[in-house]
Amino acid sequence: MFLPLHVTVRVPATSANLGPGFDCLGLALKQYTTFEIELLWGSVEQGHKPFIDIFSAWGDDPAIDALPADYRNLFYQAFSQRLMSRGMPVPAVRVRATIGVPPGRGLGSSATAVVGGLLAADAVAGRVYSTEQRVDLLDAAVELEHGKHADNIAAALLGGLVVVTRDERNGAWYAIRTFVPANLRAVLFVPNFPMDTILGRTLLPTGYTKVDAVHNIGHVALLLAALAIGDLKGIGAAMDDRFHEPYRAHIFPQLPDLLCAARAAGAYGACLSGSGPTILALAAEHAEEVAMALEETAHALNVDGRVIIAEIDHCGASVEADPYRATSKVDKSQHGGIVLSCTNCEIHFTLGRTDYRCDCGQPLDVALGNIGTEMNSIAWRQLFDERLRSLKAVDRSGVWRFRDLLLPLPDITPITRPEGQTNLYLVGRSQDNGGYRRIGEFAGLDQLWLKHEGENPTGSFKDRGMTVGVSIAKWLGMTAVACASTGNTSASMAAYAAQAGLRAIVFLPEGKVAAGKLSQAIAYGAEIRQIPGDFDRAMADVERMCLDDGIYLLNSLNPFRILGQQSLAFELLQQFGWDVPDWIVLPAGNLGNTSALGMGLLRACQLGLITRLPRIISIQAAGANTFYQSYQTGFTEFHPIKAKTIATAINIGNPVSYSRAKAVIQATNGLVAQVTDEEILRAKAIIDRVGIGCEPASAASVAGVRQLVTKGIIHPADRVVSVLTGNLLKDPDAVLLAQRVALGEV
Ligand code: F0G
Repeated sequence: MFLPLHVTVRVPATSANLGPGFDCLGLALKQYTTFEIELLWGSVEQGHKPFIDIFSAWGDDPAIDALPADYRNLFYQAFSQRLMSRGMPVPAVRVRATIGVPPGRGLGSSATAVVGGLLAADAVAGRVYSTEQRVDLLDAAVELEHGKHADNIAAALLGGLVVVTRDERNGAWYAIRTFVPANLRAVLFVPNFPMDTILGRTLLPTGYTKVDAVHNIGHVALLLAALAIGDLKGIGAAMDDRFHEPYRAHIFPQLPDLLCAARAAGAYGACLSGSGPTILALAAEHAEEVAMALEETAHALNVDGRVIIAEIDHCGASVEADPYRATSKVDKSQHGGIVLSCTNCEIHFTLGRTDYRCDCGQPLDVALGNIGTEMNSIAWRQLFDERLRSLKAVDRSGVWRFRDLLLPLPDITPITRPEGQTNLYLVGRSQDNGGYRRIGEFAGLDQLWLKHEGENPTGSFKDRGMTVGVSIAKWLGMTAVACASTGNTSASMAAYAAQAGLRAIVFLPEGKVAAGKLSQAIAYGAEIRQIPGDFDRAMADVERMCLDDGIYLLNSLNPFRILGQQSLAFELLQQFGWDVPDWIVLPAGNLGNTSALGMGLLRACQLGLITRLPRIISIQAAGANTFYQSYQTGFTEFHPIKAKTIATAINIGNPVSYSRAKAVIQATNGLVAQVTDEEILRAKAIIDRVGIGCEPASAASVAGVRQLVTKGIIHPADRVVSVLTGNLLKDPDAVLLAQRVALGEV
């Protein structure tokens, strides 16, 4: 039984050896050959021949013109043999091969064909693999390739830098993807003449001296260590080889001069790519100079060829299988190993499940598997710090800057403003600035920072989650989105939905939404449904409507919103120079932000971006304190209440993300506190007075800090970050009230 009608496989170019890593190192590069396969009626057994169209994405090239377009085609051979080995008939197919990896240049073009054929066959048979599972395909893939280039094949399958060797115990190939610094780029000089890799082998000696063997072992070890810790200079010292390059230079006399030119122009190292003739130079900031030097030297030496700068590919071959349509829609069920998971039942769901509740009722989370482990923490930090200098919206966004850790879906188009990039104000008593230090004096702290999330495009922290939520809604092909809200979520969703061209429906508790927020939702064109009741009722109503009408729910029940909000943790840590404050304090209502901040911090710790966790404190309004009450019972009990507080944003009695937030407080050794409306308004008056300003719910966090310092729980010398979640203009009515409370008039 064949499942999808169309399969597209895109396979990266690969560079083997990297100098001394003869036959055991492969590096995947962002230069691709793509195979599009369409299943036709009938099978090969019935006499149907394959239709194979070959296009060049490389330009004119005799080696591409010479590729066979019939059953001898290597891609087709791998495809059909794989199906037969699975005991399946070979269907009639039309293949469109767009060749971006030219044959015979030492860039793994055979590996692209074999890996492409194998993955396409398995997709046609209904199998799509995660990166970890792909290791098990190595033996079959190597068997299908005439040159048996396991190094190219492993890198094409897994992406990044791969170490591959045979496991002597069972004779199987074994591969491990290892670290590459994020800023490393490959500069390739690809001569026009091809080199026969099998012939190239005959140039090599049958044995090596002990001195040469020790030299190469030491250099491979040094190379891997240097790459793992991001010591780029070490790479240069490590890339010298004695096993193959000196022998292959016999038929490529200009090689030493070209390698020298690349190194002199700032490449950390340069070597023959695979068995050549392509030259691989590894560079970072000087990639353009290296490219120019290679071009000029090749010209001077009369070697025709082309220079390209290729980024490192970290994903390996990608597979899109669609049972219905040719190109646009992909099967979202198996994407990059990303799935939805229920922490309660430990079961997984595909990304196609959009109600975001497990059958047990628990909200689902996005399980990211090994995402983020492909590079080490030094490389990640370097990459994120570099993006701060970029002018591109996705790099400047305080959410998408961290896209590799949050949502590495290759085909997603971010709907971004760009959001995040909010200020971190130093307001402790140790601060010279007379104005701001008043907040430190109020709270009783020397080192206090305010992270002002009210500086997001729509004036609240919700934009971080919403940019991801709306981008996913588009990616899933949704046409309408909805949420229940105390105001900020609706303003944010309305704006991002308008940007994405989606219909937006918001459920608001009638008479309980601050003026600024309601005006935004109206202005941005959302359909408003006023619910006679509170937020919790609106939440239940919207969830039901979304289920009934197939509308996409964008409350923080939606795990992609939580994912986006995790960027608050990454951005804050980056602003802290990847150091860690002692406490992070934030207001809590529906508990989405507490959950997201904690999940982000835990992730940063797992990935080694930080070495210890700050403690998280959730502050609730005393009139909406379900979470606080539960905390008081050691989280053994949880009772929804009827909420009533002046801080309308957190006027919530039955928080949706209770269990996520509970896990976060426990994991960070955090705590939950409550503050009265009066304490909130006093804190707000001070924050407003110094010229920073915020809405009442935000002020709850500073009010909470003051209370906990007074109680001796936070020490006056502790380093504390208090998160302000919404802009002052959101709730203009609260401004005068706060000033009057501060003056003792109320
Ligand atoms: N601060 C502000 C300004 C908010 O708008 C919210 C929540 C919170 C704090 C609490 O964050 O719910 O993640 O614990 N506002 C939601 C809304 C409920 O609909 O705008 P939480």
